[in-house]
Amino acid sequence: MNSVIQLKGVSKVIKGKKIIDSLSFDVYEGEVFGFLGPNGAGKTTTIRMIVGLMRITEGDVVISGKSIKSDFENAVKEVGAIVENPELYKFMSGYQNLKHFARMQKGISEARLKEVIELVGLTDRIHDKVKTYSLGMRQRLGLAQCLLHKPKLLILDEPTNGLDPAGIREIRDYIRRLAQEEGMAVIVSSHLLSEMEMMCDRIGIIQKGKLVDIQTVRDFVEDSEQIYQFEVNDGVRVEEILSSYTGDFQFEIKENQIQIGLPKEKVPEVVKFLVEKEIEIYSVMPVAKTLEDRFLEITNKEGVAIHG
Ligand SMILES: Nc1ncnc2c1ncn2[C@@H]1O[C@H](COP(=O)(O)OP(=O)(O)O)[C@@H](O)[C@H]1O
Ligand SMILES: [Mg+2]
Repeated sequence: MNSVIQLKGVSKVIKGKKIIDSLSFDVYEGEVFGFLGPNGAGKTTTIRMIVGLMRITEGDVVISGKSIKSDFENAVKEVGAIVENPELYKFMSGYQNLKHFARMQKGISEARLKEVIELVGLTDRIHDKVKTYSLGMRQRLGLAQCLLHKPKLLILDEPTNGLDPAGIREIRDYIRRLAQEEGMAVIVSSHLLSEMEMMCDRIGIIQKGKLVDIQTVRDFVEDSEQIYQFEVNDGVRVEEILSSYTGDFQFEIKENQIQIGLPKEKVPEVVKFLVEKEIEIYSVMPVAKTLEDRFLEITNKEGVAIHG
């Protein structure tokens, strides 16, 4: 696999404080890499260093083989990024915005403009004023802006912030498509695990400036014990039954809702067990785990302290 970007022991010290601590990871062609961490973990700071908005204290970033330190101009040519909200002129049309942006760069043809508009699905609305766009459409216009020069690497800092579920889904689909069809390497940051699971191939978790874990999404999901909520007819009986069950799991009962911590493959076994005892099950639903829960699992496993 070809690395499009390599972080090599990247650190950032601000006023004597280590904000980012020796980050190293690669992102490959055609891959969506999720940069996951709670607010204040250091995602934006890392991204700002990658795109040259902030100096690197220690280490280096290599993009398509070019060092951001010794060959900055050529390294950043390969990058398209939305770090804060995309800068858009609301009273101009989407097209005028793009055109304006294209003029600031060299060699962007009319054909490329059209192609990019198509790519982000704005063809029908591109001549409408941006102020009439939904937030999701504005995000896509921002995406179009940073795709104009055909970057090999796309970086989006919390691209779904503030979007409604439909907007989130849109952005997710476009991001996946850019990786799959255009072969781009994509880095997306987020503080929401559930979102990352749907969008990314791999996830790197950053906590207090340190990379605490990198995994493929599949391993991530399979590794973790889920919590399933069972809705039953008789919670009191289920409590008795489960107390005598030999399986090794934890559960909590509130009236007729039972939450059980289980790996997915154990669910049928528990369902069968309860049904055999003539319990009526109305529904079984996975309960979304919070990032905090997942963090606890990972960091406990790796022996990293969470607090202090
Ligand atoms: N210019 C700065 N001066 C001092 N501290 C900063 C500066 N920029 C960021 N930080 C600190 O660095 C940490 C990481 O911030 P940030 O990268 O914005 O996190 P995230 O994007 O993951 O929410 C925070 O504790 C923040 O307060
Ligand atoms: Mg941030």
